[in-house]
Amino acid sequence: MAKLFDNKTISPGGTIDGVVELPGDKSISHRYALIAALAEGRSEIRNYSTAADCRSTLSCLRRLGVETDFTRERLRISGQGLGGLQAPRRSLDAENSGTTIRMLAGVLAGQSFASTLSGDASLRSRPMRRVVEPLRKMGAEIRAHDDDCAPLEIRGGALHSIDYTLPIPSAQVKSAILLAGLYADGVTTVREAVRTRDHTELALREFGATIESLNKSVRIHPRPKLEPRQLIVPGDLSSGVFFIAAALIVPDSALILHNVGLNPTRTRVLDFLISIGAAIHLASVQLRDGELIGDISVRHSALAGGEISGAHAAEMIDELPMLAALGPFTEKGIEIHGAQELRVKESDRIATISAGLRRMGARVEEFPDGLRVEGRSAGKLRGAKVEPGGDHRIAMALAIAALGAQGDTVIRHADCVAVSFPEFFVILERLRGKGTDG
Ligand code: S3P
Repeated sequence: MAKLFDNKTISPGGTIDGVVELPGDKSISHRYALIAALAEGRSEIRNYSTAADCRSTLSCLRRLGVETDFTRERLRISGQGLGGLQAPRRSLDAENSGTTIRMLAGVLAGQSFASTLSGDASLRSRPMRRVVEPLRKMGAEIRAHDDDCAPLEIRGGALHSIDYTLPIPSAQVKSAILLAGLYADGVTTVREAVRTRDHTELALREFGATIESLNKSVRIHPRPKLEPRQLIVPGDLSSGVFFIAAALIVPDSALILHNVGLNPTRTRVLDFLISIGAAIHLASVQLRDGELIGDISVRHSALAGGEISGAHAAEMIDELPMLAALGPFTEKGIEIHGAQELRVKESDRIATISAGLRRMGARVEEFPDGLRVEGRSAGKLRGAKVEPGGDHRIAMALAIAALGAQGDTVIRHADCVAVSFPEFFVILERLRGKGTDG
């Protein structure tokens, strides 16, 4: 994970104005890299995410004998075929990345060698039983700390196909099972109550796997010959949401985001923002490499505020910290329920965003499964020294809230943004046309 030392000072104001091309989507990048490694031959991926998390996936793949060549322009991956990964000499380090550890666990469950997967302190405290259980059902032997946490010691081999209903909505767990399903003895089915992001399904299909999605169930056929591909990763909407929120908050702002991923399993956040009054428009929507992409324009808007709960909370799980931080800029505030998963992300996101916003003077009520952030009538936010707890999305959400506060805000250990978006502060400065310092 990024070094924790750098404080960042954000001064309020500075109209958000201009055009941005975002770095590649983090979720899609992980998947393209992992699946390319299992294909037969060299794939080339453009706009691969610059996130530290996606570099963690590449370094794990290298330990498994996969050659990677990553330049500014493109990432080349020499696929080894389904059976071509090599036993790693040392433990595989997923660092801060939940997607890396959970998806890779699925691939490693199908290998004939033993391997160990671990990560940083945050990752080692996150629940892994959700992925261990179905992989054990498929026949993998897995040992975990307290039977739940990393390090995961995986002894894979011939796997059985299963028909599995996800107990909690998780694209990471669904993906791990589908990847293990590549190594199974029959068709593997995953069923989900809430439709989570489907990038794994789309990517597997692009690389030539046979995979069927119907309603909320997915079936994968085993042992395909995966073909190498040339693919372009769409811009990361979950990163773009921070700038969208900035443009909504700061008067006179007008922003365009180009070539952003608009996969319908990711755009619930835009529906919600539009429903509370955001002036957001889409243009040039098209299908590229199986994924929808397009341009988003957004203007400063009066926001009504509103409530998010149930399936909607799961569908915008990564955007909830930013939406919570919009609360003080809305008429009625923002209330979130059904988001208990936020407690087991890179930090306890309900606690860290609540603490940060409270330090800035917001009125916040915490619930076990969410929070309520009072609207404008509770008063204007004021600059403060805030601690994002090493969590990239909390640091970015608080930085954007700081744009609308009175006085300067210091984001402690702000370099944690590199986990998903190393360029965040540089692009923010460019869009404001005036500097933040730190
Ligand atoms: C991700 C899935 C989500 C999300 C995470 C990325 C993915 O996690 O929060 O940032 O790429 O599959 P869960 O699937 O555990 O909800």
